[in-house]
Amino acid sequence: PVLVVDFGAQYAQLIARRVREASVYSEIVPHTATVEAMLAKNPVAIILSGGPSSVYADGAPSVDPALFDAGIPVLGICYGFQAMAQALGGTVARTGSSEFGGTAVTIAGAGELLAGSPAEQSVWMSHGDSVQAAPAGFDVLATSSGSPVAAFEDRTRNLYGLQWHPEVRHSPLGQRALENFLYTGAGLAPDWNPGNVIADQVAAIRAQVGSARVICGLSGGVDSSVAAALVQKAVGDQLTCVFVDHGLLRSGEAEQVEKDFVAATGVTLKVVDARERFLDALAGVSDPETKRKIIGREFIRVFEQAAREVVADAGDAGAEVKFLVQGTLYPDVVESGGGEGAANIKSHHNVGGLPDDLQFSLVEPLRALFKDEVRAVGLELGVPEAIVWRQPFPGPGLGIRIVGEVTAERLEILRAADAIAREELTRAGLDREIWQCPVVLLGDVRSVGVQGDGRTYGHPIVLRPVSSEDAMTADWTRLPYDVLAIISTRITNEVREVNRVVLDVTSKPPGTIEWE
Ligand code: XMP
Repeated sequence: PVLVVDFGAQYAQLIARRVREASVYSEIVPHTATVEAMLAKNPVAIILSGGPSSVYADGAPSVDPALFDAGIPVLGICYGFQAMAQALGGTVARTGSSEFGGTAVTIAGAGELLAGSPAEQSVWMSHGDSVQAAPAGFDVLATSSGSPVAAFEDRTRNLYGLQWHPEVRHSPLGQRALENFLYTGAGLAPDWNPGNVIADQVAAIRAQVGSARVICGLSGGVDSSVAAALVQKAVGDQLTCVFVDHGLLRSGEAEQVEKDFVAATGVTLKVVDARERFLDALAGVSDPETKRKIIGREFIRVFEQAAREVVADAGDAGAEVKFLVQGTLYPDVVESGGGEGAANIKSHHNVGGLPDDLQFSLVEPLRALFKDEVRAVGLELGVPEAIVWRQPFPGPGLGIRIVGEVTAERLEILRAADAIAREELTRAGLDREIWQCPVVLLGDVRSVGVQGDGRTYGHPIVLRPVSSEDAMTADWTRLPYDVLAIISTRITNEVREVNRVVLDVTSKPPGTIEWE
């Protein structure tokens, strides 16, 4: 892989994505990994990400200079660029002239890294310190008013650096620079694609599970469906899919799984009605992390029970289901703090929400992939488009879309409001335009309204339409006012208990997509 060394900023995920967009496989490693650990992954190139520190701050992450002696091409970006300059004997200083946002740079000599760049261009910068002098052996490729050395390269050692962020869309020629590094600097071929993923994962799944029985928690969403299809391709009818109706589903969900997925794949499906169990376990609980943990735990308990039944149904006494397939994605891993050194934002049910006494080994064939890559794999595997293009819906379902305690009555209110919002968004042809639109019930909030000449004291419903590339960052979608008006009117007319509809206009960051 190309290793992206994470210096603690949001940018590492984005860099990893952009490398994959260039059809080269990439993985993120924390900056705390040793050079030996990095080399053990057989990297074909290394990219040092940006980060929030100053190279002079106490405890600032540094780069072991041994990394540059391994004969592997390295590209340093922003903080990574400065850390690289410092490690190799250049000078980094705080000059007092920070650069943030769109910045003009002048190309002094394009070299390999900036081949194809015009002499002047706008790039995205975000730094306080700057490189004053390049280390010996480096050519300076670009300068800006705040950065005497804004890009450099040493072609004999295949070492490259950029002060700006090539991975953000605000650096229009950024992808070109990344590709120059990958294709020319590191001599890599653009040959990574969904087809390779399928072949690799099928082999890996077979090696992992052998002839054992496997169950898959199928939600009907893109991730678990594609994971199930991959496992089915690898081990055929050793797989049984388990659909858990936890009562936190939206309307029509169970039927859709049968109609779309089972019909297309012929997979064996076991439906478990666990509505009461989940409601009981959630009774009286309002804290979001506690809810997530409870839902994660109950899922596993249900899977354990289902696994025993699968074995019994197959008349395979004495056998045991040892493996559980989950559609965990790379962002789930990273956001649950699984990408070592990353903060735990929330416990995604299929990563941080798992109980400690888990009796299954996990099979997670999508663990290294981003959503758009999963969709590409799904299409390649022949998963129906209705599933591949479904908007994300979190495993904990409506349980994390009711702020406050989850009760049967509140679930019913939310389900009705959600169905109306989805119906109208589909009618308006907006499904592909928005990433997803959580509909949230503020269960612990009431506001005064007037309906039919009387005072009401009902709950607000929040609409949270977002646009995103991979759910790591998102912006609120500017939905047409007339569509919002229809949704609002219908919800307040048709759902008793709701007397107010509000629109969430927060990007991510700072707000996450879901409210809990
Ligand atoms: P947040 O709320 O963290 O959500 O911005 C990012 C994306 O992940 C979905 N999500 C989950 N998906 N299990 C899942 O399978 C979970 O526990 C979970 N929590 C959030 C969310 O809908 C959004 O697409």
